[in-house]
Amino acid sequence: MPKMRKLFIAANWKMNPAPSPLDVYAATASTDVAVFPAFLDIATAIRAGLVTGAQWGHSKPTGAYTGDVSMAMIKAAGCRYVLCGHSERRQYHKESDAFVAEQALAALEAGLHPIVCIGETLEEREAKKEKAVVERQLKALPLKAEATAELLLAYEPIWAIGTGKTATAPQAQEMHAFIRSLLPKDIQAKTRILYGGSAKPENAYELLHQKDIDGLLVGGASLKPKEFQAIVEAAVEVSA
Ligand code: PGA
Repeated sequence: MPKMRKLFIAANWKMNPAPSPLDVYAATASTDVAVFPAFLDIATAIRAGLVTGAQWGHSKPTGAYTGDVSMAMIKAAGCRYVLCGHSERRQYHKESDAFVAEQALAALEAGLHPIVCIGETLEEREAKKEKAVVERQLKALPLKAEATAELLLAYEPIWAIGTGKTATAPQAQEMHAFIRSLLPKDIQAKTRILYGGSAKPENAYELLHQKDIDGLLVGGASLKPKEFQAIVEAAVEVSA
């Protein structure tokens, strides 16, 4: 069955040097591919012709915020996307649902596409609260059809990030369908929901085949060009 929405493969390099060579990170005709380097490597990625995003951005356009970078600056640097609310930001920098929502709004206003990350911890899943958690995280967001830029979502169960444990394809599909059901009707069919958490060549194909999974947000495997290339190839094959 052909995919309803164009697949999107995102490489989140986190606080790691940009891998080499860069050409395997190029977008293809059938699949969107974007890289999310550390701020200092954004210019290099853009010069290499890659579709690029930032891993974070401030909600204010300018001001006395030492060490921060605004959405307007990220846009001016040539980025198209920005991650908002990655669980590592929520955890290590205590970013709240309300703060993440402000960032997403600022990104949309700056003409960037925010990719908002949501997902539960292991404790929350064991207590069967995973749906309540993503619902709370989603409800805070500016999910309006009239936004000029597309907002994307990434479901990233925290227990699967960097742990080698992946949600099974049916587990991920169930959560993606649930998330989609919570979206306003007018954006339900078009919003792309990526899966993140130990995505790798071995599971990419099966995950991408699921009806409500529209791409992958790849951390560890995106630092290994050959593995990333295999993931993009899986997406191209699933799209065909
Ligand atoms: P991982 O990271 O692929 O290394 O689990 C995913 C992410 O944090 O976006």
